[in-house]
Amino acid sequence: MTLQIELNGVNKYYGAFHALKDINLAIEEGTFVALVGPSGCGKSTLLRSLAGLEKISAGEMKIAGALMNNVPPRKRDVAMVFQSYALYPHMTVEENLTYSLRIRGVKKAEARKAAEEVAATTGLSHLMKRYPRELSGGQRQRVAMSRAIIRHPKAFLFDEPLSNLDAALRVHMRKEIRALHDRLRATSVYVTHDQIEAMTMADHVVVMRDGVIEQQGRPLDLYDKPANRFVAGFIGSPAMNFIPAVVGEGGADVILDFDRTRARLALATRLPPGLAVTVGIRPEHVRIVAAGEGAFDIPVGVVESTGSATYVTSATQPELTVVETGRGEVKSGDVIGLAIDPKQLHLFDAATGNRIEAERAPVFAALPTRARRPSLQSL
Ligand SMILES: Nc1ncnc2c1ncn2[C@@H]1O[C@H](COP(=O)(O)OP(=O)(O)O)[C@@H](O)[C@H]1O
Ligand SMILES: [Mg+2]
Repeated sequence: MTLQIELNGVNKYYGAFHALKDINLAIEEGTFVALVGPSGCGKSTLLRSLAGLEKISAGEMKIAGALMNNVPPRKRDVAMVFQSYALYPHMTVEENLTYSLRIRGVKKAEARKAAEEVAATTGLSHLMKRYPRELSGGQRQRVAMSRAIIRHPKAFLFDEPLSNLDAALRVHMRKEIRALHDRLRATSVYVTHDQIEAMTMADHVVVMRDGVIEQQGRPLDLYDKPANRFVAGFIGSPAMNFIPAVVGEGGADVILDFDRTRARLALATRLPPGLAVTVGIRPEHVRIVAAGEGAFDIPVGVVESTGSATYVTSATQPELTVVETGRGEVKSGDVIGLAIDPKQLHLFDAATGNRIEAERAPVFAALPTRARRPSLQSL
């Protein structure tokens, strides 16, 4: 295993503003890493620091084993691809591609050959004589990527490269970028605010908030075991439901108490009685059953169907969302039961937001105490 990118205790201040707080990251060669988090959390700052466009305030930053802290951007051997493409408008596609080689002294014929090779892999061969204004958004993005590829950098750094594209093209381009990564096998660091992009494209996802790494790991590990409430709410769509609850007197169950709903969920472990907790339930992990047949009942507020799936939102505070495949027959105003698989529940400390884990997973006992046998009958 070769570490291509290493960040140890990286901090960045803009004046008094602490933009990156103790960032530690170790990225193996060939990995596709996504930095994901809400706007303003420090993703671009981290990426720009890697590229050398920002000077870090403290810590260590290594690329391919070499300390980069004081190495200027040109000498870092990384290539950035931006949302804005940053193409030269007065140059053709071919000239855009060959430019970086030419200024490094590569001979014209050789640069042209390299451009042709890259254009063949990115599907631009037939567009070499066009100017950027004569290209679609997706084609421009491909030129921007080709311009990075032609340099054979040690790492590709992407900053929200698909944000300017429409939804359908974004889905297409994310597959294209991932396929390209699989062919080139260069290390890629990809910044996005879109958790779906991060989940679908990356081998390793880094979730950031307010300059801090909240959690990092394989995409499905983050989905299955979010380390805290923030990650739980950020990864997954529609977002995880959070229900306020408290550990019962004996420390052996959790009492859900919201709106007019009260329910007990038995724990498989012991927790301090009276501890304020939050129960997390993903919308896709709940099954709608007849009232009285699930862990608890809820009144139905809004029902939305996309054809392939039905989204049911409860008329409670907080709202709960349930997703069912297909059309469903639930209507606004119905009272429905929710059948829950305790293995798929999440539990967080309400005060810290941190995940509560049992020594032997899962944290909840086999069946919610109030539930009868799960019913197959749907409404
Ligand atoms: N040059 C700068 N001067 C001062 N503050 C900055 C500068 N660049 C970014 N910031 C601040 O740092 C935080 C992180 O910014 P950024 O890394 O661009 O976020 P993201 O890319 O995650 O949306 C934001 O609060 C932003 O306002
Ligand atoms: Mg940004």
